[in-house]
Amino acid sequence: FEKVVDLQSYLNELVKADKKIGFVPSMGALHEGHVSLVTRCVAENDVCVVSIFVNPAQFNDPNDLKNYPRNLEEDLNLLRSVGCDVVFAPTEKEVYPTADTTSFDLGFLDTIMEGKHRPGHFQGVAKVVHRLFEIVKPHTAYFGEKDFQQIAVIRRMVNLTGQSVNIVSCPIIRESDGLALSSRNLLLTPEHRKSAPLIAKTLSEAKRKKGEVGVIELKKWVVEQINSNPLLEVEYFEIVNFKTLEPITTWHLGDDTIGCITVKAGNIRLIDNIKFDSK
Ligand code: PAJ
Repeated sequence: FEKVVDLQSYLNELVKADKKIGFVPSMGALHEGHVSLVTRCVAENDVCVVSIFVNPAQFNDPNDLKNYPRNLEEDLNLLRSVGCDVVFAPTEKEVYPTADTTSFDLGFLDTIMEGKHRPGHFQGVAKVVHRLFEIVKPHTAYFGEKDFQQIAVIRRMVNLTGQSVNIVSCPIIRESDGLALSSRNLLLTPEHRKSAPLIAKTLSEAKRKKGEVGVIELKKWVVEQINSNPLLEVEYFEIVNFKTLEPITTWHLGDDTIGCITVKAGNIRLIDNIKFDSK
């Protein structure tokens, strides 16, 4: 479906028949990471809806928006092959028929890590996901933990607006060399692609070192390891509380913590994270 009215009249009939609607929002250029969300959505719902929309509102860098990979035909074939029922691929006018000036109080979440380094990005994410939820009205929506902070932003938006959607988070899918799958990996030069697995490798070594060194020392070590490769440059690495996303400075017994990183490989930002306290 390209039009909101057509999608809604199709879905309304299904909801009347008491069908459960599952939803996976995406920006396309789909890979196995997306497929893992779709597969779970198909398994847990009567109808699986996937949206493909490269949302201009969340791009703080115009070049990133211009270069973002777009493969609609391939995406449709892949979605067909994994049992997706409905694809919503709207134009910008369909999603934002009038200038959408909604803004959300994302508080602290908008001031750290991705929030700090991509001004306006999370407002754009909250805005589009709010609008997509309004259009699709899913019972359950699926998001990947690769974008860990994004899930916190979406949960906050849902709390603020009272939209009744169950938010499910799904584990990171990786290449065999450890690199987290991302649509932007397609844009890496062969040299940067070869260097990129150092990110995941360093994060998993950091998890092993956790018992031996303090938080500050471990953060320094991670940054040094990755920056020792001249093709990679750490933008930030934070160790934060898993629930609140507040940065921690010392390990506390019983705390759930996660290390979140963004690394620049040439012009491409690569994002990853590691849970320090669970498998
Ligand atoms: P996009 O980057 O296309 O990602 C769509 C969903 O796939 C997100 O929930 C993302 O976390 C998940 N995903 C991406 N790579 C993954 C991986 N390697 N393993 C597991 N899940 C992965 O995230 C967005 O689009 C947009 O911000 C969106 C939520 C659609 C709003 O525009």
